Amino acid sequence: MNNEQCCVVSCDKPLDQDYWDAQYKAKSTGWDLGQVSPPIKAYIDTLTNKNCSILIPGCGNTYEAEYLLQQGFTNITVIDIAPTLVEDIKQKFVANSHIKIIQGDFFEHQGKYDLIIEQTFFCALPPTMRQKYVWKMHQLLTEEGVLSGLLFNKYFEVGPPFGGSKEEYENLFKSAFDFLKMDVAPNSIAPRANCELFFEFKKNSSVKVNLYQFIGITCNGCMNTVTTKFEALNDVLNASMSTNFAEVLIVGTKEVAVEKLQKIVSYDEKYSIIKIH
Ligand SMILES: C[S@@+](CC[C@H](N)C(=O)[O-])C[C@H]1O[C@@H](n2cnc3c(N)ncnc32)[C@H](O)[C@@H]1O
Repeated sequence: MNNEQCCVVSCDKPLDQDYWDAQYKAKSTGWDLGQVSPPIKAYIDTLTNKNCSILIPGCGNTYEAEYLLQQGFTNITVIDIAPTLVEDIKQKFVANSHIKIIQGDFFEHQGKYDLIIEQTFFCALPPTMRQKYVWKMHQLLTEEGVLSGLLFNKYFEVGPPFGGSKEEYENLFKSAFDFLKMDVAPNSIAPRANCELFFEFKKNSSVKVNLYQFIGITCNGCMNTVTTKFEALNDVLNASMSTNFAEVLIVGTKEVAVEKLQKIVSYDEKYSIIKIH
């Protein structure tokens, strides 16, 4: 085995409520555009159903929600983990019944939405959470629901933000979503020109998307062996593991019993797989 393959790319800062709240308290918010992101504004302008339910996770100062309200949308929910920020936006939108503002962790949130708007939330999460992001987005969307917004198509030396590539996103979201669009945005703000992909992914409601905790893997080689074994199953369309080897996302035409998955990896007694609910 090649030792170089054993590196785990991870962020050593805990990107938790305290981290994000401290950024808002210190007004250290370099990501804040001070305006609705132009590609998302252009997308909103194409939407006709003003009563569709919309979620904006990791909303920050949420100029997107402000623009949606100006355009007459009536069913907007925004969620952010940072209490200082949420207090501010509650003041900003006080007494507006068309927007619901939640302080909390997106991954704990329950609900169903026709549209979820992505604007620098994915890139703010540790890359180890990407499989969980796909799982949670799939769960929160209605049958015909759409996840749309912007993803970076570049990598950064340090994060957040954590970047990525079109190929990486295709592999990550494959089978759980139908890709309606994923192209370099022609209308990004100047500092992000050619660095953002505008995407529109429709939930694939005909599949089961499940997330599992995985114990026992410490290198990419073993990860590839395990995911290849899972993908060889008839019912499995895509299997991918988080970069810290702690979680596996499995997309299938039907759910595969966890006992069956455990049996497949039983050639190594260290391996254990547990379904996350
Ligand atoms: C880079 S900022 C982007 C904010 C906003 N979308 C924007 O573009 O200005 C990331 C945001 O995600 C929030 N956040 C991070 N982790 C979160 C989580 N698990 N649940 C909800 N919000 C979270 C942070 O508090 C922060 O406001």
